[in-house]
Amino acid sequence: MEKLIVRGPAVLKGEIRINGAKNSALPIIPAAILADSPITLENIPGIEDIKMQIKIIESMGARVAWIGGNSIRIDPSGIKPVTPPYELVKKLRASYYLLGVMLARFGRGKVPVPGGCDLGPRPIDQHIKGLSSLGADIRQNHGVVEMRAKLAGNKVYLDVVSVGATINIMLAAVLAPGRTVIENCAKEPEIVDLASFLNAMGGQVRGAGTDVIKIDGVKSLQGTSYSIIPDRIETGTYMLAVAATGGKVLLKNVIPKHMDPVIAKLKEVGAVVEVGEDTISVECSTKPLQSVDVKTFPYPGYPTDLQSMMTVLLTQTRGTGIITENIFEARFRHVGELKRMGADIKVEGRSAVIRGGVPLTACPIKATDLRAGAACAVAGLVAEGVTEVSGVEHIDRGYDCFEARLQSLGAEVFRIPDSQKIYAVPNRGA
Ligand code: EPZ
Repeated sequence: MEKLIVRGPAVLKGEIRINGAKNSALPIIPAAILADSPITLENIPGIEDIKMQIKIIESMGARVAWIGGNSIRIDPSGIKPVTPPYELVKKLRASYYLLGVMLARFGRGKVPVPGGCDLGPRPIDQHIKGLSSLGADIRQNHGVVEMRAKLAGNKVYLDVVSVGATINIMLAAVLAPGRTVIENCAKEPEIVDLASFLNAMGGQVRGAGTDVIKIDGVKSLQGTSYSIIPDRIETGTYMLAVAATGGKVLLKNVIPKHMDPVIAKLKEVGAVVEVGEDTISVECSTKPLQSVDVKTFPYPGYPTDLQSMMTVLLTQTRGTGIITENIFEARFRHVGELKRMGADIKVEGRSAVIRGGVPLTACPIKATDLRAGAACAVAGLVAEGVTEVSGVEHIDRGYDCFEARLQSLGAEVFRIPDSQKIYAVPNRGA
């Protein structure tokens, strides 16, 4: 276990290149084992969740090799319908994509019920409903989902707009004979990325990015090379961190369109945001920022994954802002940590009321999940003094070289073992 030591206040300045999207790579890696021949994937982020997803498909017989910086080659020829070990599956939510993949590839399978960030109840009823509509017989016994099916295309209406359920049904349907229609599906860019990948392998997926996806099952899928889209949540994390610290940063390798809801809110706050073809620059050094209200919604709404970062920003703006979390029930764990640093925030049900303009002061805080962890580290950059952020393993699940990248933007952030005490931190510039 390690912790981050963060000296504030800091001002982020410079340039940063955004990595490939975690939440695209997480379904695309298991989708690769649906192919009959090897797959090359580029722009894969070197984060813990991805390493875990790779271990999971390796445990089933896939051979995976890193071939240079951020590319991997997946040889699916040795894949077998073995149950992935609970020790791996419990570490990430996205292990549940094995449900759709195993049904498509073998017509059967057993997958332990997945783990992942604790954001309140995270049911998988829509996954089960969708896969059952395609003909799967699914039972849960002793924490394991057991499935058997002769799949066939069908119509599925999702009662809840779910990224994971949409993806699982797409994965199962791509090799299921006949037409599958998913209505009220998720429209996130990661869904479009998966559809593009499945089509690059020879799949017939249409409509991704709208609320109706149509999939005509094909007999087989072939190897291909594919590059993952840039991570819009990593992009937003740095954009909001720049705003909170009052800096100026150019973000490269981004898809600006994916950032529309974040750009809109940052402009409302008073940040100067300039958009290029594949770049975004954010500057917040010239005038005081104003509080805003923010509601999280499925894409193209403001993302829940950037709600904790927005909370940190609103502690520093003028006035009172209200954040309403509409996606997950228990995604305000970072608030307790921010309050320990002096933030004035009241949580009432699904809303957090944040009185801005209150200085934060350093103290030991804890990352309770991935995005809350990033928010805690950025709060440390904003606060006066030296903040210790424990629970860094959560941050490592989704951010590649987080502290090194913040350092490259001028921040004083370093990592030490959890047990190590900080007796003295070098003075700035020492
Ligand atoms: C994905 O989670 C992302 N994870 C999450 O990112 C993200 O926060 C979330 O989508 C929303 O955008 C991955 O892509 C691996 P959902 P997922 O199914 O698929 C309810 C991060 O930090 N629901 O869209 O699990 C559910 O409880 C992570 O990178 C059901 O009721 O989210 C929630 O309220 C955290 N029944 C809502 O739908 C179901 O069967 C949306 O969940 C499924 C979901």
